[in-house]
Amino acid sequence: MSINNHDIRPLCLSGRGVTKVFGIGDKKTVAVDHVDFDFREGELVSIVGESGSGKTTLAKMLLGLISVTEGEIFYQGKPRDIRSRKKKKEYWKNIQAIFQDPFSSFNVFTKIDTVLLDCIHMRGGKHLPKEKKVEMMAEACSFVNLKYEEMTNKYPFELSGGQMQRLMIARIFLLKPKILLADEPTSMIDACSRATILDMLMNLRNEIGMTIIFITHDIGLAYYISDSVYIMEKGKIVESGTADEVILNSKADYTKRLISDVPKIYEEWDLSTV
Ligand SMILES: Nc1ncnc2c1ncn2[C@@H]1O[C@H](COP(=O)(O)OP(=O)(O)OP(=O)(O)O)[C@@H](O)[C@H]1O
Ligand SMILES: [Mg+2]
Repeated sequence: MSINNHDIRPLCLSGRGVTKVFGIGDKKTVAVDHVDFDFREGELVSIVGESGSGKTTLAKMLLGLISVTEGEIFYQGKPRDIRSRKKKKEYWKNIQAIFQDPFSSFNVFTKIDTVLLDCIHMRGGKHLPKEKKVEMMAEACSFVNLKYEEMTNKYPFELSGGQMQRLMIARIFLLKPKILLADEPTSMIDACSRATILDMLMNLRNEIGMTIIFITHDIGLAYYISDSVYIMEKGKIVESGTADEVILNSKADYTKRLISDVPKIYEEWDLSTV
């Protein structure tokens, strides 16, 4: 994709000087340190960095789960206002997340039918006939290769890790958010399922046209799937640009080191692009 095309797309989420400080005094941690970013509509953006570089903290600020210590986040080009409960709820219709640990994402006392039904209701489908709702839930399950009949009357904790991750994607299928934040959604599953899940996310993206913000340690994977890549080191964004710019023509030493840490993956991708 050419840079021009890419820049024409409307802004979806951006940030200027976004900072998160945990604790005070000697115990202070600057988890995210004055980062700037522009994520555009329909774009797949990867945020890559080692453990502790601040990726999840940034994700939580983007979601509005934790406050921003300094700086500002913009939604569709305007300062994001989620101060009231009502506005926050409205914002959450547009941005959804898949987390590292799917077990933490569901209320253990909510049955799977209810989890899916809630998504339909959130999208304003409360008054649809029951059969229509069942049809929508079954469609969402089949999209992620889960059998709806096997899901009814179960609780999330009765599913395997992989099934639970697929259930999270089924939720996204129903919610159709503008932005999906995926914090290493593939961490709990084997390579084969990982490819399947990624494939599902890509299909969903094509179907809904959503922006995907993908958080990963895997720079090889980021290169393979992303339009843009942001590299984080110790809370700072040290490099950003198109996947080609950042990974084939890296400027930051840190990026070069991340790439050299995965020589095999890199060679593989590299060969496939020649
Ligand atoms: N609630 C918190 N209170 C205090 N410090 C925190 C809190 N959450 C995160 N941190 C610190 O902020 C820094 C960044 O953490 P974060 O979870 O954002 O990293 P990460 O890039 O997501 O790492 P990983 O790849 O391991 O998931 C770490 O030093 C972490 O200890
Ligand atoms: Mg994390």
